[in-house]
Amino acid sequence: MSGSRVLGTGSALPRRIVTNAELAEQVDTSDEWITARTGIRQRHIASDDETTATLATAAARAALEDAGIAADSIGLIVLATATPDNTFPATATKVQAALGCTGGIAFDVAAVCSGFLYALATADSLLRTGMAKRALVIGAETFSRILDWEDRTTCVLFGDGAGAVVLEAGTGDETQGILGTKLHADGNQHDLLYVDGGPSTTQTVGHVRMRGQEVFRHAVVNLSDVLKEVLEDTGTSADQLDWVVPHQANARILDATARKLGIAPEKVIVTVDRHANTSAASVPLALDVARKDGRIKPGDLVMLEAMGGGFTWGASLIRM
Ligand code: ACO
Repeated sequence: MSGSRVLGTGSALPRRIVTNAELAEQVDTSDEWITARTGIRQRHIASDDETTATLATAAARAALEDAGIAADSIGLIVLATATPDNTFPATATKVQAALGCTGGIAFDVAAVCSGFLYALATADSLLRTGMAKRALVIGAETFSRILDWEDRTTCVLFGDGAGAVVLEAGTGDETQGILGTKLHADGNQHDLLYVDGGPSTTQTVGHVRMRGQEVFRHAVVNLSDVLKEVLEDTGTSADQLDWVVPHQANARILDATARKLGIAPEKVIVTVDRHANTSAASVPLALDVARKDGRIKPGDLVMLEAMGGGFTWGASLIRM
């Protein structure tokens, strides 16, 4: 069966915006340092009444509205997150209940910043096998809850948010929808980016720990390699791409990866300045922003890509 088609997208951000200048009042940093090293100017931070599930539900509702379909036609929800509301059950089941579409399949995927790519590939595979006809694929995070707000090397980099995509099983037209996907993981790189807690180790939630420069180096190599793999697999050249929607970790990673592949900077969707790194939410959030502002149009050839803790990384080529 052909790849799943994107019927609609949606996103949600916490109400509260925190600027670099506000952060500089809490930790030893500055707007100049954060902007120059990362491109980040502000991030949205969840208030007490906003959780991964509430943001995910709002993004899912927006995606359903955009697709023009009712929640009860959704048979599968795959939610990527590293910051679930509870250790269990899956946050996807909370979203399912909130949307009123119980009875189908709902589960979470943990692949941190590349979680949305993993979730998209999982949903696409299940739709191709006929397990469901329509799916919601969601990336949602409240990373602010696992940041060490005294560690300036990590707390300035992340934000909260959610993005969602409605997928429908392909119709047999091989030139539409998800054309190709590649996923990778390398568990040997655990110590470069991880959370120092968890139910089975410390019985605490823990905090994000990262060796930034090493992550940066791996990110540029892994992302450009996986992009090339998907281009080769699908017989596509980089200049045929209309848009690249990258994981929004750092403007310098986005620039360096695009440069390595000869992709024009104006084809790269950038939201890191406004959203910071929202982990699994960043790709669907950026996709929704660029669809809603009219840049990404039906028929466009769009490459999604991400890398995160694990390491895990992947890319997916979609004809919108
Ligand atoms: N404000 C001011 N100074 C800071 C801050 C801060 N927030 N953080 C670190 N510094 C200081 C350091 O202490 C260091 O000072 P020193 O020279 O006196 O020791 C100096 O700035 C330089 O630090 P570096 O770590 O060398 O800075 P670098 O240019 O590598 O930038 C950064 C750090 C932004 C984290 C970069 O390495 C990066 O973006 N790495 C990728 C990490 C990332 O994006 N991770 C997200 C998850 S993974 C992913 O999504 C792909």
